[in-house]
Amino acid sequence: MNPSFKKKILCIGAGYVGGPTMAMIAHKCPQYKVTVVDINPDRINEWNSENLPIYEPGLYEIVQSARGKNLFFHTDVEKGIRESDIIFVSVNTPTKTFGVGAGMAADLQYWEKTARQILECSRSPKIIVEKSTLPVKTALAMERILSSANNGIHFEVLSNPEFLAEGTAVKDLENPDRVLIGSSQTPSGLKARDELVEIYSNWVPKDQIITSNIWSSELSKLVANAFLAQRISSINAISDLCEKTDADVSEVAHAIGMDARIGNRFLNASVGFGGSCFKKDILNLVYLCRNYGLTEVADYWESVVRINEYQKKRFILNMLKAMFNTLADKKICLLGFAFKADTGDTRETPALYIAEKLLEENAKLVISDPKALKNARKDLKGVSGDISYIEDPYEAAGGCHAIAVLTEWALYAELDYQRIYTSMEKPAFLFDGRNIIPHQKLYEIGFNVYPIGKPALKHF
Ligand code: NAD
Ligand code: UGA
Repeated sequence: MNPSFKKKILCIGAGYVGGPTMAMIAHKCPQYKVTVVDINPDRINEWNSENLPIYEPGLYEIVQSARGKNLFFHTDVEKGIRESDIIFVSVNTPTKTFGVGAGMAADLQYWEKTARQILECSRSPKIIVEKSTLPVKTALAMERILSSANNGIHFEVLSNPEFLAEGTAVKDLENPDRVLIGSSQTPSGLKARDELVEIYSNWVPKDQIITSNIWSSELSKLVANAFLAQRISSINAISDLCEKTDADVSEVAHAIGMDARIGNRFLNASVGFGGSCFKKDILNLVYLCRNYGLTEVADYWESVVRINEYQKKRFILNMLKAMFNTLADKKICLLGFAFKADTGDTRETPALYIAEKLLEENAKLVISDPKALKNARKDLKGVSGDISYIEDPYEAAGGCHAIAVLTEWALYAELDYQRIYTSMEKPAFLFDGRNIIPHQKLYEIGFNVYPIGKPALKHF
């Protein structure tokens, strides 16, 4: 190792957060040695290859700039712990599927195993940084585990939640709205906090690095996701009313978004939000509220998830109704399977729900996506029905009765829909779950067009 490295940073968990976050730190701070470890050897091999395990615009260039110089990926977690001064913990914290709190609470098993491993392998004091999204008060449990051995080694736990969004991870990491660091207010807590502030100061303006007590920091992460998801559920709820009243949800969003107090972002009505975190983090918040006896508060936030489920269901019912109440043996092309554009991630994607429901109706599916077909195959493995996977959208739509646009990939807005229309069964239907297609133009071509939250454009 280059002996001149100022600090040795380890990240446990080489996923969507750990990989890109550490790549950015290494890229911006050549004076630090950054190591990312994971128990999954395939993931580590991919991080060390030309084909990174996740697709993010600009990520490869950043990884390439630092890999082998001050950025390393490997599977030796113990060695990584022993050698590091600062450890980011970025393991997965999915919704619990068993026991008390199943379907609601965060499953902290991966996180706790990490805490125990840090305790077992450490020979020197360390700063432990919670990067994973965790229930408020988790740092207390972390501290208790780390101090349980009474071995004289001091561990200082910080909370530093990650706010990046997939598809824009590199941009978000390079220019974050803010970096949040929570610490205990003791001298050692504040000293550790300052060390973390110093790392981010290498590229983030000081006034955008905010500090707080550790519980506010943990809670702010859950609340940020809950507020973002709440905006989507709010506009999606209104999209239903728009469809009944001939109002246009895009016009409504534009009109309300120009009020600076409301703001214009995150007001795109859609087939529903997906992704690994919104639903999980809201349910986690709901579970916490119920735990503290806050029934009304819990019910309020739970309704954000309920509206999202309703929006996906509504989409299917609209398809069924528009297509003469039968989808059996009809070939339907799904344009997009990723939970959002510019990612191959399909976790909690609305497309999976839509696919399963269409298959229950005995429809035949052709799934198309520029980056997510590998994950789509995995997600639908074991689901019975007639499914094919075709990346080329023209080939995918050929011979279909309907198209459902489920991911807002820019390329879907620019397809030659005349060519597609010619190759489809008639009457041809298009259900735009993202409102990205030029609806009037498609109607004029001959499609029956069903946007979200706007009057349908039908030829009968
Ligand atoms: P992920 O599943 O992509 O990655 C987690 C990684 O941790 C996996 O590769 C897994 O093998 C590894 N891991 C689990 N236990 C381990 C152990 N004991 N030792 C070493 N490695 C271990 O998850 P993610 O999407 O990166 O999310 C991680 C955390 O960050 C979650 O708490 C999530 O809520 C939060 N988060 C995610 C995003 C996002 O965009 N995905 C954004 C902000 C915050
Ligand atoms: C979200 C947050 O935006 C991040 O700040 C957070 O760090 C992250 O969750 C996390 O904790 O995992 P992400 O899920 O990657 O990021 O992507 P978003 O851009 O938030 O989109 C989430 C879902 O909402 C997608 O399905 C997207 O298509 C949908 N969406 C988004 C809408 O339907 N309408 C909108 O106006 C915006």
